[in-house]
Amino acid sequence: MHFFHLIHFCAGALASVSIVDPSDVISPSLWAADNAIVPDYNVPFISVQPSPIIAAYTFDNSTSLSHQVFSTALNQTSVILVTGELNLSYSTIVKSGYASNLLESSFWGFNAAINVANASKAQLDNINVTVHNGAANIYVYGTDSVVYVNNAWLYSSGPVSHGVYASGNGTAYVSNVQHFSGGMRSSSFSGDSPAGYLYISDSVAHTTGIGSATFYALGDIYATNVVAISEQGPTVFMDGAQKAYLTNCETTAGLLGGVAIFSSQTRQSGAILSLKNSKITTLGSIPGLWFGNTIIDVSIDASELVTSGVLVVANYSQITQDFDYYADYSQQPNLQPAEVYVNVTESSLVGDLVAYNSSFISWSLASYSSWTGAAYSGFDEAYFDVHLDSSSTWTLTKSTTLQNLTDADETLSNIQSQGFNIYYNASALLNGYLGGKNISLAGGGKAIAI
Ligand SMILES: *[C@@H]1O[C@H](CO)[C@@H](O)[C@H](O)[C@H]1NC(C)=O
Ligand SMILES: *[C@@H]1O[C@H](CO)[C@@H](O)[C@H](O)[C@H]1NC(C)=O
Ligand SMILES: *[C@@H]1O[C@H](CO)[C@@H](O)[C@H](O)[C@H]1NC(C)=O
Ligand SMILES: *[C@@H]1O[C@H](CO)[C@@H](O)[C@H](O)[C@H]1NC(C)=O
Ligand SMILES: *[C@@H]1O[C@H](CO)[C@@H](O)[C@H](O)[C@H]1NC(C)=O
Ligand SMILES: *[C@@H]1O[C@H](CO)[C@@H](O)[C@H](O)[C@H]1NC(C)=O
Ligand SMILES: *[C@@H]1O[C@H](CO)[C@@H](O)[C@H](O)[C@H]1NC(C)=O
Ligand SMILES: *[C@@H]1O[C@H](CO)[C@@H](O)[C@H](O)[C@H]1NC(C)=O
Ligand SMILES: *[C@@H]1O[C@H](CO)[C@@H](O)[C@H](O)[C@H]1NC(C)=O
Ligand SMILES: *[C@@H]1O[C@H](CO)[C@@H](O)[C@H](O)[C@H]1NC(C)=O
Ligand SMILES: *[C@@H]1O[C@H](CO)[C@@H](O)[C@H](O)[C@H]1NC(C)=O
Ligand SMILES: *[C@@H]1O[C@H](CO)[C@@H](O)[C@H](O)[C@H]1NC(C)=O
Repeated sequence: MHFFHLIHFCAGALASVSIVDPSDVISPSLWAADNAIVPDYNVPFISVQPSPIIAAYTFDNSTSLSHQVFSTALNQTSVILVTGELNLSYSTIVKSGYASNLLESSFWGFNAAINVANASKAQLDNINVTVHNGAANIYVYGTDSVVYVNNAWLYSSGPVSHGVYASGNGTAYVSNVQHFSGGMRSSSFSGDSPAGYLYISDSVAHTTGIGSATFYALGDIYATNVVAISEQGPTVFMDGAQKAYLTNCETTAGLLGGVAIFSSQTRQSGAILSLKNSKITTLGSIPGLWFGNTIIDVSIDASELVTSGVLVVANYSQITQDFDYYADYSQQPNLQPAEVYVNVTESSLVGDLVAYNSSFISWSLASYSSWTGAAYSGFDEAYFDVHLDSSSTWTLTKSTTLQNLTDADETLSNIQSQGFNIYYNASALLNGYLGGKNISLAGGGKAIAI
């Protein structure tokens, strides 16, 4: 049984609020062989959606149906293909049968239980979708294609079996959904190239496979009230200059980082990550927020990052199609340092900032925020700016070297040194107000000009 332990009341006995997901009904152990299939991505990439998409039932008209059961066990075949408009409610869709090409299956929605194709529309309400052997539960493709999914139970085993997947500029509005996937590369809510737009609310997601995130952002992700765990993936994967907004979400991530955000080709700039009234917990030693080969603006508002010690990593690195390690230059000749601009408001954060090989982290604390931690290099040069407003505080846990250090409290009285020093670059553009002086900090340390 998998439960999310949300709230622990420590009044004598330990109690917790638990949330169930579809794996409590269909045990992943029954589908272990399916979940062990490793997708082979070493096949030629197909650049346009192959046609036709084979499906057991094709709706090219306008249809409204309820209380139906649709299924197929044929290989490389969807259960339902929508090329018109379909309203489907109180219905069950069961898909089994293998993909003959997992790249086509993942990227082009072949073998998906429900495939909403070019400029089509589907409204799915009170549906129960089960998929085995590798394909998405619900796939939507193309500009002007839209799927609405409300009150849905989505279960999948096998690889590339995403919950809801929007690609080719398609849009998905998802609410009151429970999703479980047991296979590899089977994220709960995914966008894909050139973009997918996903609006997710009031939902529960649980993935267990490597490369299976809660949100795979290629395009935009807007998530509100989502509770999720990705046992062997981050909460957010993001490739390139995409946007992910998490509001009132509570998630747990087990591999790479609470988020793992990178550019898989040349370094992109313009990515956005926003956490509002949200909490990300990471398992093991992975960082809260991991960035490689990208330039990104991050905002953390009234949110928590619960980690074993590292809040943010900015690395000269990226994530490969294996989705289970941080890759170096030998895998990707286009790598550049990460540049990460973080605004923290109304939050109390504990942990360190670590930058590698000329990467940069700008860390701004405002609106009654506090930070307990330090910044240091993981490898070679590392650059950090710290900005504090007068309502925010920094408690050092290690001596830290900075470029810009701005503080609305020019006497630096909101910094608790605990005996550690800050070494600041006296020539940095914004440090003129410090006058190149050494300044005593509360707790016995100093801000020392270098
Ligand atoms: C989608 O549109 C493209 C281009 O018009 C076409 O080749 C393809 O067959 C269409 N796919 C479906 C499933 O209708
Ligand atoms: C729409 O298409 C479906 C599937 O081919 C068919 O069963 C149904 O009768 C059609 N409905 C209309 C109104 O034509
Ligand atoms: C599907 O439902 C929507 C919203 O209720 C409605 O506007 C639309 O006409 C319905 N389409 C069909 C084919 O019944
Ligand atoms: C379906 O795919 C499986 C796994 O690749 C294969 O063993 C089986 O022969 C296929 N069935 C058909 C009818 O092609
Ligand atoms: C969905 O269907 C599966 C069987 O395919 C069943 O075990 C499960 O309980 C159903 N879920 C809901 C919410 O009815
Ligand atoms: C997606 O949108 C872009 C930009 O508008 C357009 O060039 C491209 O053809 C669209 N792709 C699809 C599959 O609709
Ligand atoms: C961070 O704060 C600065 C100063 O208030 C602002 O200019 C910038 O747009 C903010 N960035 C984000 C990502 O919120
Ligand atoms: C940083 O990137 C290097 C490759 O450039 C990699 O070996 C190392 O594991 C990464 N570490 C972290 C914490 O990202
Ligand atoms: C560090 O960056 C340089 C380029 O400036 C690159 O050649 C080297 O491979 C990188 N080393 C690591 C460990 O990332
Ligand atoms: C300090 O800042 C100046 C001006 O931007 C820069 O040229 C220099 O490299 C910085 N020093 C260090 C040690 O980073
Ligand atoms: C300091 O901040 C300013 C303004 O953002 C920037 O131009 C400069 O590169 C930063 N670093 C140094 C070392 O001056
Ligand atoms: C600041 O402190 C450092 C280290 O103790 C010392 O080398 C340096 O001369 C001092 N600078 C000033 C301006 O007092």
